[in-house]
Amino acid sequence: MGKVHVIDHPLIQHKLTLIRDEKTGAKEFRELLNEIAMLMAYEVTRDLPLLEVEVKTPITVAKAKMIEGKKLGIVPILRAGLGMIDGILNLIPTAKVGHIGLYRDPETLEPVEYYCKMPTDIGDRELIVVDPMLATGGSAAAAIQFVKDRGGNSIKLMCLIAAPEGIKVVQDTHPDVDIYVAAIDEYLNDHAYIVPGLGDAGDRLYGTK
Ligand code: PRP
Ligand code: URA
Repeated sequence: MGKVHVIDHPLIQHKLTLIRDEKTGAKEFRELLNEIAMLMAYEVTRDLPLLEVEVKTPITVAKAKMIEGKKLGIVPILRAGLGMIDGILNLIPTAKVGHIGLYRDPETLEPVEYYCKMPTDIGDRELIVVDPMLATGGSAAAAIQFVKDRGGNSIKLMCLIAAPEGIKVVQDTHPDVDIYVAAIDEYLNDHAYIVPGLGDAGDRLYGTK
């Protein structure tokens, strides 16, 4: 079963409180989402393999380490996952980005796909699927399946806030995928919104309703 990593660094917890606040407007919401994504990416990439190298400093030649030529791919789930991309690319500028367009049908709550474009070599990449919200888990489970169907085989899922229900769905459907979250909230309400959560991430990010 995939492990669940709760990244509870004080900086992340502080920014998470600000982003939950209903008074936080779209501009600040966007900034906070990217900042939290960057801080989380630091932890999500903690196990990247390192290579011993030599580097000539102004004083001498030092034995040092660099990240082994492992290629990374970031896969945001549209729309809200897009709000995490710039923050992650600040840390990992050479990562390629694949996009999956999904929305949750408000009646059935089932994910509906409307777009998918992946880097051609996703089979050679360590992939991080990103979305701020893991609610029922339907969108994340479907997105991970799309990535697998297109050849992805090394996949992590990174979300800001998860409901216990969504974590279970992803663990059951994709036991090979580790999940990284900043918070596990209490439950889903009757409309499958995370409680206490932060509301509708896409709407808050883009000012829609
Ligand atoms: C939100 C969110 C996730 C999904 C989570 O997207 O960004 O993708 O809901 O819900 P689930 O775990 O129950 O599937 P939404 O469907 O609102 O689309 P949007 O990002 O385009 O607003
Ligand atoms: N999607 C959101 O944007 N927020 C939730 O709480 C649940 C699904």
